[in-house]
Amino acid sequence: MKNDYDKFASKRQIDLINGLKPSHRFVEKPMMKSMMPELKNKKILMLGCGTGEESIILKDFGADDKNIIGIDLSKNSILLAKNTYPDIDFVVGDMNNLPFDDNTFDFVYSSLAVHYSSTPNRVYNEVYRVLKKDGLFLFSIAHPLRWSSQEKEIDGSVIRIIGCSKNDNENIVYGKYHTFEKHTFSSFAWQDDGEVLEFYVGSPSMHFKLLKNAKFDIIDFTESKCIEEAKDVDLNYYTKNSEIPQFMAFLAKK
Ligand SMILES: C[S@@+](CC[C@H](N)C(=O)[O-])C[C@H]1O[C@@H](n2cnc3c(N)ncnc32)[C@H](O)[C@@H]1O
Repeated sequence: MKNDYDKFASKRQIDLINGLKPSHRFVEKPMMKSMMPELKNKKILMLGCGTGEESIILKDFGADDKNIIGIDLSKNSILLAKNTYPDIDFVVGDMNNLPFDDNTFDFVYSSLAVHYSSTPNRVYNEVYRVLKKDGLFLFSIAHPLRWSSQEKEIDGSVIRIIGCSKNDNENIVYGKYHTFEKHTFSSFAWQDDGEVLEFYVGSPSMHFKLLKNAKFDIIDFTESKCIEEAKDVDLNYYTKNSEIPQFMAFLAKK
């Protein structure tokens, strides 16, 4: 089964708490922290919060447990989140159709969750609706340079390419940077237990347009880069992910 977040909730939580997901520890979370606003006294929604670990980061920026609510589609993830962070509110629900009133939140935070929706425009409209005036939306998604590339075997190694043949007569194009479509990945460096993930990848300009259509102003945009600390832990991982962005993050304002 694809995107079986209920089945893998417990393993994901253990990996996250122990820093065993290099993409979160060295790439995605540092990017999100670099864009985080001050969160003191802010009413906050964590969108696609999984087992709730991102609340620890939000608290570093001034957030208070009693002002945070997390939502996720996975019942098991929400159960674990409730048990682990009992002072925070968590609900099961769909980011495409949020169970909250208009103008409820000052800040909506979402790590690597929006790309599971085939209709990001619906998510952006929903987030805009539940944000208060001047409220902020910070979210990260897969970057097409990494995820819309195509695998090709060259000289016995499988490489990911995005580009085209130099010779115009050949007409070979690798990857689909501009096409919004579903991608399936079944083997990540840190997963050896068969988790299969499907998510949707589109270009930065497509997401800029959708955010604009939802009436957001875009305040900041970052393409991820692996932090130096990873060098000592895994030099190959560092080298690869310091030159090619795996993820991108937007900070948008209502
Ligand atoms: C990669 S995990 C990220 C979890 C957490 N934000 C983190 O960074 O550790 C993606 C999460 O998105 C959730 N998700 C997927 N589709 C969703 C939807 N339509 N509504 C709410 N949550 C969703 C999954 O259940 C999963 O917990």
